Amino acid sequence: MPPRHEESRAIPLRGPDGVRPMHRVRPLEFQTIIEPFRIKSVEPLRFTTVDEREQLLGRAGYNLFHLRAEDVLIDLLTDSGTGAMSTEQWAGMMRGDESYAGSRSYLRFLEVVQELTGFEHILPTHQGRAAERILFGEVVRPGHVVPNNTHFDTTRANIEHFAGLPADLVIPEGMRPSDEHPFKGNVDVERLEQSLREHGRERVPLVMVTVTNNSGGGQPVSLENLRAVRRVCDRWGVPLFLDACRFAENAWFIKQREPGQSHRSPRDIAREMFRLADGATFSAKKDGLANIGGFLAMNDEALAERCRNNLILTEGFPSYGGLAGYDLEAIAQGLREVTEEDYLRYRVRGVEYLWEKLDAAGIPLVRPAGGHAVYVDAKALLPHVPPEQYPAQSLAVELYRAGGVRSVEIGSVMFGRPRPDGTEEPAPMELVRLAIPRRVYTQSHIDYVAEVAVAVADRARELRGYRFTEAPRVLRHFSARFEPLATQAAECLSG
Ligand code: F0G
Repeated sequence: MPPRHEESRAIPLRGPDGVRPMHRVRPLEFQTIIEPFRIKSVEPLRFTTVDEREQLLGRAGYNLFHLRAEDVLIDLLTDSGTGAMSTEQWAGMMRGDESYAGSRSYLRFLEVVQELTGFEHILPTHQGRAAERILFGEVVRPGHVVPNNTHFDTTRANIEHFAGLPADLVIPEGMRPSDEHPFKGNVDVERLEQSLREHGRERVPLVMVTVTNNSGGGQPVSLENLRAVRRVCDRWGVPLFLDACRFAENAWFIKQREPGQSHRSPRDIAREMFRLADGATFSAKKDGLANIGGFLAMNDEALAERCRNNLILTEGFPSYGGLAGYDLEAIAQGLREVTEEDYLRYRVRGVEYLWEKLDAAGIPLVRPAGGHAVYVDAKALLPHVPPEQYPAQSLAVELYRAGGVRSVEIGSVMFGRPRPDGTEEPAPMELVRLAIPRRVYTQSHIDYVAEVAVAVADRARELRGYRFTEAPRVLRHFSARFEPLATQAAECLSG
């Protein structure tokens, strides 16, 4: 990590006012990476006891999505829409132009998104999944296959909604939490080629790449990999779309880790990432640094026209797409701030800081740290709880019970698939994600989270599995209810 604060400017013999500087000293170098902001407005946290949280959990059916946010002390459920906005974003909110058509705020949004992405057609949407629904609704037909490194739950569900088949083709290292790889989000280009050979371009309407790969641990994709995917898409005549929610964190990893990229600005790298694709879906709730919003972008004029019609039908007129003018201002400003080096250095280092504390305590983690979250490998931490009893759910519940920390299960609750015989195919990994909201928590909050996680991990053998008492068919993790299995802990302790 390069030193941040240095007094390296040439020291003048006399200042502009003719006064001699105090003394000539060797430039000082400081290593501490500080939050590149100060806090102007605070939101109090509410403390609860373990007894209270046990009751709250029971009422919530052991589903952390059912808790009231004020009953959560540190909320690491998601980094989506939970960030703190800057003074400039709030100022932009006040300048929001709420005209129905062609508002100034829309034009500002358009200018920033076009400069960043280079795409011709930009359709604002109320969030990322609206962009996904509109895009897939236009291009996915029953039996179509959509490859990705790893689909997020909403892209997967939207493709399945149109009877398409999502295919996860991340490199093998991306599926093995303990493997080290600088770009664990990379697409397995061999398997992509194979998938296109098998299904043909008629059945593959587009290829997607998710940057960073959220479901696979917030891991980045290299420029080299994106270029290789681009070449495959070109050979087959299939368009390439980015699921670009965390494009800036991905660009930062490229700058840090990819040979020959360290001299470039994150923005320059991000611009190249977008220019390797034909379009993108984007949730502004992540690297838009906004609390709501998104867009669908592309170069294909005919497709854009169809999507625009769909947008008008369900989201709003193309110059606001379901958002207020002030939201468009917040996103436009957020998209400027998110590629600043001071911000990205602090952001990625903050996540790594938590990761290092848990790693030092021997907690099995997805390696290395992701861009927006730390992922605990619950399969490795709770080997006595089989995937059918949802070890990651068990761990997530305990982090809340013990310390009021809310995380999210990314395992078989979220991604388990029913088999034809009525049993269930478990997810490939059982992860608990501790997602860090942007610019919200300070170092002591993170120290507290680490203390809770380490204490819970020390008692991991006592944790028991869960079973569903209610489970809707689609996106069940949001609304399901559970109950703890009674026998496991006793069996395990006696064994
Ligand atoms: N794609 C990825 C990779 C995501 O992480 C998300 C959202 C979406 C698409 C959908 O965007 O929420 O604006 O509709 N992820 C959030 C999360 C919910 O917690 O990871 P959205």
